Amino acid sequence: MTATGDLILVLDAGTTSTRAILFAPDGTMRAVAQAELTQHYPQAGWVEHDAGEIWAKTLAAARDVIGQVGGADRVAAIGITNQRETVVAWDKVTGEPLHHALVWQDRRTADACAALKNAGQEPVVQAATGLLLDPYFSATKMRWLVDNVPAVQAAAAAGRLALGTVESWLVWKLTGGAHVTDASNASRTLLLPLDGASWDDGLCDLFGVPRGALGEVVDNAGQFGLTDPALLGRAIPITGLAGDQQSATIGQGCLAPGQTKATFGTGAFVLANMGDALPRSGHRLLGTVLYQLGGKRDYALEGSVFVAGSLIKWLRDGLGVIASAGESEALARSVPDSGGVVIVPALSGLGAPHWRPEARGVITGMSFSTTRAHLVRAALEAMAMQTQDLASAFAADGAEWTTLRIDGGMSANDWMAQDLADVLQVPVERPDFVETTALGAAMLAGVGAGLYPSLSAASGAMRGAVRTFAPGLQVDPERRAGWERALAAS
Ligand code: G3P
Repeated sequence: MTATGDLILVLDAGTTSTRAILFAPDGTMRAVAQAELTQHYPQAGWVEHDAGEIWAKTLAAARDVIGQVGGADRVAAIGITNQRETVVAWDKVTGEPLHHALVWQDRRTADACAALKNAGQEPVVQAATGLLLDPYFSATKMRWLVDNVPAVQAAAAAGRLALGTVESWLVWKLTGGAHVTDASNASRTLLLPLDGASWDDGLCDLFGVPRGALGEVVDNAGQFGLTDPALLGRAIPITGLAGDQQSATIGQGCLAPGQTKATFGTGAFVLANMGDALPRSGHRLLGTVLYQLGGKRDYALEGSVFVAGSLIKWLRDGLGVIASAGESEALARSVPDSGGVVIVPALSGLGAPHWRPEARGVITGMSFSTTRAHLVRAALEAMAMQTQDLASAFAADGAEWTTLRIDGGMSANDWMAQDLADVLQVPVERPDFVETTALGAAMLAGVGAGLYPSLSAASGAMRGAVRTFAPGLQVDPERRAGWERALAAS
């Protein structure tokens, strides 16, 4: 393919917002547009998105940034990165969603997971997929749609049902009907063996997912289709796809085994590059595909924490304790400690390494002297505590961190970055440009479009400067003990 333009368009369809970013070949950002997504909470523990809204807002953001630079001729290629595990069901004939998307945070299939666990299926599933039986992953959500939504059942009966994660949905809409999913996203469904090229019939049967509704599993970089020229002004090749956490790992340049990143977005996700060795955890971490190029995979060990930035959002929107997320840093600094307050942010259950879907958030240690500054401080302190729980599990699995590369919206908080370094006692590195999720997708799209010969070449060309937070004095062990007690109560 000969690229016409010089810019790479990344569509980053996240949990709370969807955005479009244009990157120059040196990794600098040339234009950005963003829109918040409506969160639907139809029942306690249920979380849904309108897939039509995801599509409309992503398309509008893409058009916006293309307009900012003078037209689609400037764009060489498109990379897509997305909130993972979230399931969209759509009609292959009309291209319309058949139900709201079930979001990764949705806990409605907790009982179905427990039943499979009780039937002794978890070791088999974990050995095959690297994942655990938790409602977080896609397969039980797909099954729920098939069991409970008449429109999905009718489409399945008519051979018109398509199921996919969000990148799959966006590629379908952009190309007008290509049905693919990349290996990093597919590895979050419970249906793809870590070492298998495609969906496993036995796993599809176990979870009751109709295999014919799933897209083709493809590489993370390559030629995945051309956009319908009516949408963006010309047919632009889609050449990069990746789940957002894998994309951030690539964007952070974690391309060698042992290199580890933590993204503090809606949730907090730590991924350590494990090279081409199949990742096996004995400590409740996940094995996942980091990327697949030319059919060959590199893997990662992952610790998924469900609540990070969403806790600050909840303090702002749910409790009204702060007016803006940015205020949290000054408030945390305004007190010497949390005044004994501990927050365990299990607002949608606990992910790694605990995996307790039924857990709920707790706030302990309040007294009449507790102020909102203490609450905010406790919320930020919880980030390092959750991350430390993961650090122990990674170390026990033989993947000890020597440095942690952080990114995501919340990582802009210097107090939190330093607290992480102090608690973990390792240097914490933060790139000046924290949109590493989008940057990783730009690198993949650049490789897929032939603009760079390899991911390491793309990384060398596109990554910018980094600031290091060196570990200071060790924190008071009582903080850890207080966290453990509160965790037990969650
Ligand atoms: O696994 C869920 C993850 O992909 C969500 O990422 O950035 O939308 O919080 P984010």
